[in-house]
Amino acid sequence: MMTETKYWPAEDSSSGLKEAAAALAAGGVVAFPTETVYGLGADARNTSAVAKIFEAKGRPSDNPLIVHVASETEAESLAESMNEIERRLARAFWPGPFTLVLPVRPGAVSPLVTAGLDTVAVRMPSHAVARRLIELSGCPLAAPSANRSGRPSPTEARHVTEDLAGRIDGIVDGGPTGVGLESTVVRVVDGVIHILRPGGVTREQLQAAAGPDAPVESGEREADASATAGPRSPGVKYTHYAPRGEMLLVTGDDPEGVVAAVRQEAADARREGRRVGILAAAEHAGRYEGAADEIVVCGSRRAPETAAQRLYAALRECDGLGLDFIVAEGYPEEGIGSALMNRMRKAAGGRERVVGKQGVS
Ligand code: TXA
Ligand code: MG
Repeated sequence: MMTETKYWPAEDSSSGLKEAAAALAAGGVVAFPTETVYGLGADARNTSAVAKIFEAKGRPSDNPLIVHVASETEAESLAESMNEIERRLARAFWPGPFTLVLPVRPGAVSPLVTAGLDTVAVRMPSHAVARRLIELSGCPLAAPSANRSGRPSPTEARHVTEDLAGRIDGIVDGGPTGVGLESTVVRVVDGVIHILRPGGVTREQLQAAAGPDAPVESGEREADASATAGPRSPGVKYTHYAPRGEMLLVTGDDPEGVVAAVRQEAADARREGRRVGILAAAEHAGRYEGAADEIVVCGSRRAPETAAQRLYAALRECDGLGLDFIVAEGYPEEGIGSALMNRMRKAAGGRERVVGKQGVS
């Protein structure tokens, strides 16, 4: 089914936002900017509206959605309860790139939003356009990232257009997003803070806000990983964030070793006749001249937040360049670097060469 997709530019934000909010209140699906990535929103209480999100994205129906709110009161109206640790985290990180999985208040949202679970994921974004849109629409907004399922998340309105034009009611263009990676999804169980998906709020920040009596457990869990106990996030089992070409991630503690391995992998692939790109850290881009058909700079090793901001756009650039093999260098896994590497590993579909060890896993 093709629909006419309206476009509301940021300069036109006051009247545009009102039209977008009216479309949402009437059961439409509208893409909008947040500080992490663009979301595809619909009234979380309206089952037929939420169904359109799954249809437009081609998203599996067992993968639940995050509900976006503009106030603490609205968050509380969706949850059955919030304990002391959850309140502490909400106070520290809302509004912001932080999502809390809470016991759902029966009837508060469509069962499609929760995919039949007894919990609901709630987030209060800090982006001014997102907040205004939620307020104007008067709805809690269910909103996954506004990409076709499996593609890199959109960090600019034109990425949404690429994936979803003709499939949704409108796009609000608020310019490039800030963080560039999705929110951190957290669930608190028995006093332990579980990171279900690493993101814009780091493990270090969570631990500092939670205090010493509430430990933070990293390591996302898949819904079907039967051997592991504890909370799980259905979404993490699906292929995500992937470019069209095959990607190989090269990691290791020694930057010189990584550069040499990247050059070697690129040379091997070119010998096989593949069109090869290197996804490079800014500091190393000069070292790859002539080593591949295209060099795409992701961001700085010294400032991994710049790589986080650019990763998804860079992956889409690789597609635009028609690359069929992408060798990507990894980043140090501290702070935002752990969310960055989580997404890069997914984009690579698990293909990783760890320099200093033998072979490719
Ligand atoms: O930054 C973000 O979080 C963006 C922007 C638009 O807000 N949204 C986003 O949504 O990334 P989405 O749908 O692409 O990812 C939602 C994640 C999935 O991994 C999903 O499995 C998990 O949150 N999730 C949602 N509800 C859940 C629940 N009740 N229990 C456990 N995990 C849940
Ligand atoms: Mg997504």
